[in-house]
Amino acid sequence: LEAARRPSVIWLSFQECTGCTESLTRSHAPTLEGLIFEAISLDYHHTLQAASGEAAEAARLQAMRDNAGAYLVVVDGSIPGPEANPGYSTVAGHSNHAILMETVEHAAAVIAVGTCAAFGGLPRAAPNPTGARAVMELVDDKPIVNISGCPPIPMAITGVLAHYLTFGRLPELDAYRRPLAFFGESIHDRCYRRPFYDQGLFAESFDDEGARQGWCLYRLGCKGPTTYNACATQRWNGATSWPIEAGHPCLGCSEPAFWDAGGFYQA
Ligand code: SF4
Ligand code: F3S
Repeated sequence: LEAARRPSVIWLSFQECTGCTESLTRSHAPTLEGLIFEAISLDYHHTLQAASGEAAEAARLQAMRDNAGAYLVVVDGSIPGPEANPGYSTVAGHSNHAILMETVEHAAAVIAVGTCAAFGGLPRAAPNPTGARAVMELVDDKPIVNISGCPPIPMAITGVLAHYLTFGRLPELDAYRRPLAFFGESIHDRCYRRPFYDQGLFAESFDDEGARQGWCLYRLGCKGPTTYNACATQRWNGATSWPIEAGHPCLGCSEPAFWDAGGFYQA
C-alpha cells in the first residue's frame, strides 16, 4: 500500500486572488503537508508547484495522460465565458476557458473551490466586464462539487479531498452542489450569539453597549440567517475565531449572489 500511486490532482487558478490557496494552507485536519506528501500527488498548482513556465505546463499534460479518467481537477477563480475576449485571462498564452475544457476532458470529477469558481464571485459582480462564469456553467459532463466561501473554510477543501480518497466517491451535496457536511446548516443555526437574537438583544452600531456586550449583529447587516457554511463550528486559523466572534456580521460570502446581493452592511 505504501508504494501505491497517490491520486493525481490538477489545480487550475483562473480569475482569483489566491485567497483560496491561502486558506488551504491553514487547514489543520488534515494539514496541507499531510495531504500533498502522503495522500495526493499535486501535479499542477501555480502557487505551490516547484516547476514554472513550459515545465509546469508539461507536468499538467503529463499528469492528464498518465491518469486519464482518474485524476481530480480543482479550480479556483471564475472563467471568462467563451463569448468574452479570451485575452481577459490567459495562462501560457491559452485562455482560461480553453485550459479548463482541455483539462477536465478526462477528469474523474471537478471541485470548484471558492465562490468565484462555484458561482462567479467578485469577477462576476455587475457589470461583469469579463463575462465571468462559474465552473458548473461551462462543464456539464462531469461530477462537480462546489466548496464556496470567500475564501472557503480550509477543512472543507481538504475534507472533500479526504472523503473522495477514502470512499472513492464525492460526498452528499445540497442544491448548490455544496457538501452537506460543511454547508448543511446556516451560520445562524450554530451562531453562539443566537441566544441574544432570540431575546431580541441587538447591537445597533459597531461601538454601542450592545456591541460591547456581544449581542446579535443582525441589525448591522448580518447575513447569518440566509448563509450556509461551517464557520460557526469549524472557525478559522486552527479554530481560533471567525467573523462574528471578531465582532463583524456575516457577509454571506458562501452564497451564490454574494457581492451583488447587498452583503455589505445592508439589513
Ligand atoms: Fe444570527 Fe448573525 Fe445574530 Fe449570529 S450574529 S445570531 S448569525 S443574526
Ligand atoms: Fe463568510 Fe459569513 Fe463565514 S461572511 S467567512 S460565511 S461568517
